[in-house]
Amino acid sequence: MSPLEDGWVAARDGSIVATGHGRGWEQLALTGAGHVVDADGAVAMPGFVDPHTHLCYAGQRWDEFVTRKSGADYLAVLERGGGIHATVRATRDASDDELLALLSSRIDEIARLGTTTVEVKSGYGLEPEAELRLLRVIARAKASATIDVAPTFLALHAMPAQRADDRTAFLKDVVAAVATVASAGLAEAVDAFVEKGVFETEEVRPLAKAARDAGLAITLHADQLNDVGATAFAARMKARSADHVANASADGLRALARNAIPAVLLPGSAYFVGYAPPDARRFVAADVPVAIATDHNPGTSPLVGMPTAIALAVTLCGLTPHQAIVAATINAAHALGRGERTGALVKGRRADIVILGTDDERELAYALGAPLVARVYAGGARVS
Ligand code: NIG
Ligand code: FE
Repeated sequence: MSPLEDGWVAARDGSIVATGHGRGWEQLALTGAGHVVDADGAVAMPGFVDPHTHLCYAGQRWDEFVTRKSGADYLAVLERGGGIHATVRATRDASDDELLALLSSRIDEIARLGTTTVEVKSGYGLEPEAELRLLRVIARAKASATIDVAPTFLALHAMPAQRADDRTAFLKDVVAAVATVASAGLAEAVDAFVEKGVFETEEVRPLAKAARDAGLAITLHADQLNDVGATAFAARMKARSADHVANASADGLRALARNAIPAVLLPGSAYFVGYAPPDARRFVAADVPVAIATDHNPGTSPLVGMPTAIALAVTLCGLTPHQAIVAATINAAHALGRGERTGALVKGRRADIVILGTDDERELAYALGAPLVARVYAGGARVS
């Protein structure tokens, strides 16, 4: 990534048609309602891509947040029927319209903070029927969103308590749901939480196969709290991305690099749960493409918006500010299979553009919490 002095971007019908620097833009003819936006020396950059969120939920987990102190405690709370299960209950008790309103307002909020493409997972239904309901809510939010929404079927997030004695049948039901999700066009990818005491790689294998057979991408919550070999497994499954990966082994990193699979680092959850954040330099040194995301969810990562994720990726994970911006734009677009569509100010891509209220983009990593995003365009239309 190299910042360009005096640069300009021209867009028409939602796409970038030309870029340059200096006065070349004056030769371009304005068409229709065309107009010139003067960034006045401030930074214009690609809109952020947030490739991992759980934005579709109801309820908050204040008590858990206040009492939980370590990564190990997170899994203990989950095992006792709290954590993800608490959000599952609150989500079940909310109506579709309530969920839609919550999700849509969260999408609007992150759009104001510069996100122009966001992945949204289901995952707080657990049973296939309840997951399908969430995916339909996500589809409604996508239809009315001003930014691009990439829906993911988070098929295996936690074991529903009522199916505990019935694990094999539950796993079968989940695998069977993949074809329904795919034929209804409700998701682009399938995800699973591969973690000690949650789901094992061998339990996820049939799900990954079903996803591939149905033409859906695979993405995994891999080695977040423990090294369970999920990162190498993600590579074997030809996943679109391997996410979290805070405890991925050297073998896992090599497998990602060999297959050019992006690692999506989620510093927010390390920060809020209190485990050691993923060391981004290990990934960079191993030639793994690094993306970052908010992982927004009410349990492990309640942070809002990509500027905070960028700042945490620099302070906690060791990326440079420019590496973090690449990780939040073009690499994150690749992690969503959109590497040719957005994530860069290049001719032919969607006109997803953020204008900052500063002339130095590194301030994103530095002025934590400052309202630096001044204007946001998604597909050429002003969204904020
Ligand atoms: O990405 N680790 C699993 N899933 C989420 C957290 C979900 C929750 O605690 O509600 C994550 O950290
Ligand atoms: Fe997550």
